[in-house]
Amino acid sequence: MDITLKEYSDFQHFLRRSCGIEIGENKQYLVKNRLASVLREFNLTSFSELLSHLDVNSVSSNRLKSKVIDAMTTNETFWFRDDSQFLALKNELLPELFLQTKGVVKIWSAACSSGQEPYTISMCVEEMTRSIGSPFNVQILGTDISETILNEARTAIYSDMAINRGLESKEYFRKVDAGHQLKSEISRRVRFQQLNLLQSFSGIGRFDVIFCRNVLIYFSDEVKRDILRRLVDALEPGGYLFLSSTESVPMDMMTLSPVRGKQARYFKKVG
Ligand SMILES: C[S@@+](CC[C@H](N)C(=O)[O-])C[C@H]1O[C@@H](n2cnc3c(N)ncnc32)[C@H](O)[C@@H]1O
Repeated sequence: MDITLKEYSDFQHFLRRSCGIEIGENKQYLVKNRLASVLREFNLTSFSELLSHLDVNSVSSNRLKSKVIDAMTTNETFWFRDDSQFLALKNELLPELFLQTKGVVKIWSAACSSGQEPYTISMCVEEMTRSIGSPFNVQILGTDISETILNEARTAIYSDMAINRGLESKEYFRKVDAGHQLKSEISRRVRFQQLNLLQSFSGIGRFDVIFCRNVLIYFSDEVKRDILRRLVDALEPGGYLFLSSTESVPMDMMTLSPVRGKQARYFKKVG
């Protein structure tokens, strides 16, 4: 099915508005490939028809919108991705937060995909807790725009292929018919909630550490700056932010100060 220049530009606009993603010019082949099965599933015969449904606010068009966003987002993730950041979390930040905290430490994995990032954080907490030999109350929130991927994350069951990406040991998993089930000693700290990073974070509370990795790259500078500003608001005073190792914050954003830790670079909320 062909897509005209006008349809393409309207679709770019829809994506930007609904989830912040910029697909750039001349990516018609990508849009056509990724949406082919969605168009079939919803019996849509042209991109104009798709766009007119995306404009409507109804249960079925909301389901269509979710499917379109799912098809256009990249869920690539794996265990201990950018592993030096998890070493920094385990060896530098968690001990500091353990000494400082009087109650619970809260960590947010924003755009967590199928759960490897928040569960990796929980593995770090588990290892740190074992090494200090005393209880340490850490709650981890995983959010993503996609309910479909969050439902996968909630099952905490991973295929052979997923399990073999980034894990040195399978000690936290037990084999089940559908794959490898993460043990509750790791999954119990993590809960999941649907959240679009374009929308307000006011309902989810404040965090000591936020991971927001490999998602801001898809947004315009303006959207990225707005999200970073609101992430800072969601951090406790002195809280920490991890972006992926190739991402940075704008130079003039004085509320986030880069920290060159022994293991990795991250950002601290100042002021
Ligand atoms: C490449 S994955 C990154 C997963 C994980 N943070 C990591 O670094 O391994 C990007 C995730 O961002 C999510 N995403 C894209 N746009 C979003 C938005 N506007 N709000 C929340 N999540 C979004 C996608 O659904 C996808 O799961």
